[in-house]
Amino acid sequence: MAAFAHQVLAWSAHDFAHRDRQRVGSSPPAAELAARLNEPAPEHGRPFEEVLTEFIDKIVPAVYRTDHPRFLGFVPSAPSFYAVLGDWLATTLNAFAGIWLEGAGAAQVEEVVLGWFKDLLGYPSSAAGSLTSGGSEANLTALVVARERLSFDDRSRAVLYVSGLRHRSVDRAAAVIGLRPEQVQVLPTDSRFRLPASTLAAAVRRDREEGRLPWCLVANAGATSTGSVDPLRDLAARCRAEGVWLHADAAYGWPAVLTPEGRELLDGLAEADSITLDPHKWLAQPYEAGCLLVREGHQLADAFRQRADYLSDLPDGDAVNFTDRGLALTRRFRALKVWVSVKCHGLGWFRELVVRNCLAAEYARRLLAATGLFQVVSPPQLSILCFRHVPPGRKAGVDELDRLNLRLAEELRATGEAFLSTTRLADRVALRLCFVNWRTTAADVERVVELLAELAGKAEPG
Ligand SMILES: Cc1ncc(COP(=O)(O)O)c(C=O)c1O
Repeated sequence: MAAFAHQVLAWSAHDFAHRDRQRVGSSPPAAELAARLNEPAPEHGRPFEEVLTEFIDKIVPAVYRTDHPRFLGFVPSAPSFYAVLGDWLATTLNAFAGIWLEGAGAAQVEEVVLGWFKDLLGYPSSAAGSLTSGGSEANLTALVVARERLSFDDRSRAVLYVSGLRHRSVDRAAAVIGLRPEQVQVLPTDSRFRLPASTLAAAVRRDREEGRLPWCLVANAGATSTGSVDPLRDLAARCRAEGVWLHADAAYGWPAVLTPEGRELLDGLAEADSITLDPHKWLAQPYEAGCLLVREGHQLADAFRQRADYLSDLPDGDAVNFTDRGLALTRRFRALKVWVSVKCHGLGWFRELVVRNCLAAEYARRLLAATGLFQVVSPPQLSILCFRHVPPGRKAGVDELDRLNLRLAEELRATGEAFLSTTRLADRVALRLCFVNWRTTAADVERVVELLAELAGKAEPG
């Protein structure tokens, strides 16, 4: 066992230490991968070394390394090695994190980690939470908790408010809990992609007048496309006055509370009734580490708790059974990686990560502007920057510009040196950079801008 484990560790450590010298990854055509990997399940086993080699040769090159310092697309994940080791330990221990009786230590560590998050956010100690697979599960769980306040009759006239910049997992959650499409009301945002409280107020007034029931708002605390943070304090006051549940989707943005600037930007977050916060985004954790916190903690268990004959042995009292706080009974020990890495690094390391990533976004803005080839579409908000290539000295139509920018993103990925993804803002394509990686340096930012400028300089009209 030790020899096998050593091989895995040796590969992992080498791979981890050489990330910045590797290509950013690739995504081969489906037919090519099928030809490489499809086979019937073998009747007889093969030596571990051979299977490990096959993993290294056939699978590793067929993924993008989201922790590469120049992988700046979507919302990346760049785990610290301590977090990776914590996850490995969790796998080996294989503690059952669903019920106290089976995995008390795991449950208590999860409580500790949730307590840390509550402290960082300024959330009350009476809040309760759960580590989820990710933000999508957390958003769904939040809506289930919020729905518990509605009578069965009211459910059909309840309105869910979202901004145009919401993450689409909210739409999926709305569908899963059985809302009709017209019960989800998409509200417009301002020029910085934030939802003004006055827009919510007007929508609530109109809905009441027309016999609908304003029920829940999902606000952005770091929107996926732009990093924009809705005016949370104003929205919270409005929601409280109207009896509307406020769910803050801080899946990406929440670690900014570690810095004074971020704390100011996220002011009011702790007023939300529930918060989604994903450690696997900007807290250097491997997938899967999402999290939901609910301000009045008992509401989580009120929504999910079931008792079954086969669970008659669970102790009563204050021991927490995490299965009472969400969808799953069997849960892995997700909290361990967070616990190990926060204890090994200390919070200062994570604070510096946030500061450096925000500076990287600002540095990218300056460098892009200096080329004269790009226009900023959304200036850095938290650590996300959106921009567009606009060829100087030539009038290009909007559709042509969209095509040009989509092609630019594709060509950048094809270099194997960097990865960025696109979004649509005001119905036009925008290039987007999202910084969450502790590896990314100023030199990486410079290289990405250099590549973009080179490619843009060569671009033919679309
Ligand atoms: C703001 C926001 N909410 C929710 C999600 C969904 O999280 P997950 O992909 O972990 O399910 C994301 C993912 O990028 C996100 O950016």
